[in-house]
Amino acid sequence: MPSAPLQDDRYAAPPARALGDQPVSTLLVTGIAELVTNDPAHPDAEPAEGLGTITDAAVVVADGAVRWVGRAVDAQPADRALDLGGRALLPGFVDSHSHLVFAGDRSAEFAARMTGQRYDGGGIATTVAATAEASDDDLRDLLAARVGELRAQGTTTIEVKSGYALTVEGEARLLRLARELTTETTYLGAHVVPPQFSGRRTEYVDLVCGEMLDACAPYARWVDVFCEPHSPHAFTEDEARAVLAAGIARGLLPRVHGNQLGPGPGVRLAVELGAASVDHCTYLSDADLDALAGSDTVATLLPGVEFSTRSPYPDARRLLDAGVRVAIATDCNPGTCYSTSMPFMVALAVREMGLSPAHAVRAATLGGAQALRREDIGRVVVGARADLTVLDAPSHRHLAYRAGVPLARALDLG
Ligand code: NIG
Ligand code: FE
Repeated sequence: MPSAPLQDDRYAAPPARALGDQPVSTLLVTGIAELVTNDPAHPDAEPAEGLGTITDAAVVVADGAVRWVGRAVDAQPADRALDLGGRALLPGFVDSHSHLVFAGDRSAEFAARMTGQRYDGGGIATTVAATAEASDDDLRDLLAARVGELRAQGTTTIEVKSGYALTVEGEARLLRLARELTTETTYLGAHVVPPQFSGRRTEYVDLVCGEMLDACAPYARWVDVFCEPHSPHAFTEDEARAVLAAGIARGLLPRVHGNQLGPGPGVRLAVELGAASVDHCTYLSDADLDALAGSDTVATLLPGVEFSTRSPYPDARRLLDAGVRVAIATDCNPGTCYSTSMPFMVALAVREMGLSPAHAVRAATLGGAQALRREDIGRVVVGARADLTVLDAPSHRHLAYRAGVPLARALDLG
């Protein structure tokens, strides 16, 4: 959950050894060839492209938070020191869209798509069946392995959706398990209409808006819906509006899967309801762009989905030029993108969506934080969480430049 607002004395001198009443151990991180702060207002930062990079930088960390940011020559000694030896340091990646709680294997579906089969969401039923067979501990083991993967690639915040149970008890179970890992949990009972409700769609929507929501709301921060007129399995504009309104009435915050398989109402609905983010945005009209540009809704791009479904990539440059806030995320799920790798998403966004390396890194960090309405992550500023990612490289540019090389990892501060 968001913590206290960031302090104003952001550029003040390093704090004394004791913060408040409790003496806390301070850590001085040096050897940072390039620090990405996402804070172009920092007096030592290069303003170009909004990354706010500081060369030959240092950071002081204490009690899980950033306490000082600046050039190494200006840093004061701390209780402990860590020399990164000329590496780049970034805010940890914020992966604002994943479906991490699932069992089963759909690699054959992926292989079929690579030889021409189209994706329409029908495979979700396969995962629902496999997930129902898995025990809580099976799912915990699968989750732990996936979280290990993503941390090893530099992700420090993960959003996790339900959506592979589609029953009252089952959706609550998936959210309860997700809650063991993250506060960014999303109720996605409206992932698809399950086959046993075919011909009775309205009954399923009523269940999602009623009994299922009651069971899930205690474990969820967000409500989401797969709004997609191009899939017979997904939800129409009116159905999606009903689901989101019910979630909002229960205190959940809205986000939307929209405009994935073709042009559609998802983006406009997301903006209308003040959603934090609308995700996919593969097919956007000029009207969608205008709606996004005049709103607080982030457009979250999922380049791994275009990769894994052989779909055309959206033009991220067009979004930035229109003044839209852009995030990139993995959408890690067994159907449309089974990847936990934010560095891979950065590389794809640069190569295929027209983002510069700087804009892609910003979208994977600050953009993700904005898509989760979080102020305490996505930037290296005083008061932010000390969620930091180190690269075995001197600059953020290497993430896309050296695509596929395991350069990034979440920094373990002990
Ligand atoms: O975000 N589009 C809907 N849901 C997922 C895919 C789920 C699946 O195919 O298992 C997505 O792409
Ligand atoms: Fe998704």
